[in-house]
Amino acid sequence: MKAMTQDKYGSADVLNLREIATPGIGDNDVLVRVRAAGVDPGVWHLMTGRPYLVRAMGFGLTKPKVAVRGRDVAGVVEAVGASVTRFQPGDEVYGTCESGSFAEYAAAPEGQLATKPANLTFEQAAVTPISGATALQAVRDSGRVQPGQEVLVIGAAGGVGSFSVQIAKSMGARVTGVCSTAKASVVRSLSADDVIDYTAEEITANGRQYDVIIDTAGNRPLSLLRRALTPKGTLVLVGGEHGGGPMLGGFERQLMAPLVSVFVGQRLTGLVARERATDLDSLTQLIEAGEVTPLLDQTYPLAQTPEAIRHIEAGHACGKVAISI
Ligand SMILES: NC(=O)c1ccc[n+]([C@@H]2O[C@H](COP(=O)([O-])OP(=O)(O)OC[C@H]3O[C@@H](n4cnc5c(N)ncnc54)[C@H](OP(=O)(O)O)[C@@H]3O)[C@@H](O)[C@H]2O)c1
Repeated sequence: MKAMTQDKYGSADVLNLREIATPGIGDNDVLVRVRAAGVDPGVWHLMTGRPYLVRAMGFGLTKPKVAVRGRDVAGVVEAVGASVTRFQPGDEVYGTCESGSFAEYAAAPEGQLATKPANLTFEQAAVTPISGATALQAVRDSGRVQPGQEVLVIGAAGGVGSFSVQIAKSMGARVTGVCSTAKASVVRSLSADDVIDYTAEEITANGRQYDVIIDTAGNRPLSLLRRALTPKGTLVLVGGEHGGGPMLGGFERQLMAPLVSVFVGQRLTGLVARERATDLDSLTQLIEAGEVTPLLDQTYPLAQTPEAIRHIEAGHACGKVAISI
């Protein structure tokens, strides 16, 4: 099969389109004929091995353990392992895979796949699993958003942010999105009630305070974020790499937040998202009910994966980027 592979860590220049063996599957795995794959900052981290924390997490100390990049996948089931009960060949599925999704075939554990939402294209479905599930866990589980609450989403036009705005709205919150000037209309189209253009004013400039802040971008200091939070409010740190160091890449804030939280009335949390089918099933419900629609920025053919990753690396994607296979 054709796959986008790498033998060493580095920039998008290390990627090569090659002919390699189709991945094998174990008893609990599903072989997916890939129709589309999603690109997110995690792909860049695994491609570059930066920050070095990534290597220490078991992805390979000196070179990537898995040569094929991409985790988000949507496609058609080709074969199933002996213990798989939820899928059969021909089913349309989406989820995350271990073997790499920038390829014609991918192997995924059954527990990381769900039935593809009927109203989505393969490209829309492929960009949903990681960003959508991260947003769901940020808004529902860490943020514990309640109807009527004021929610601020920083990075509202990005992959996680665009899902977070829609999910918080579906839960009855009043949502303010933070983005740059050109993306204000996009963020409003996601049904945000208000927009803050961070290039014109900082989030604290209008003096408003929010019950929940979902921070996906910008790496603002905890002290500034706390000023925009109500005295009993909840801060959920999802990401934000700007200015992060080579070892932790901005993850320092996620580590610090729970420590500071012990001494203040506000709840400060750092999210490490999990990949599981139950969240995909919840996302499918929201998507099929029309409450959430993946915001697709651009789609690239497999051979142009390096360009797709460079687009994400620039840090100003408007929604999600897909690879069509
Ligand atoms: N914790 C976890 O488990 C987890 C899971 C998934 C992702 N992440 C992390 O979450 C972060 C976001 O991921 P993503 O997929 O949403 O990235 P993305 O699609 O690249 O979106 C980032 C967004 O940040 C905005 N932005 C950049 N600088 C900003 C600033 N100073 N203030 C406000 N917004 C700013 C950009 O919009 P503008 O063009 O408007 O600036 C862009 O839309 C990344 O750091 C990623 O690694 C963490």
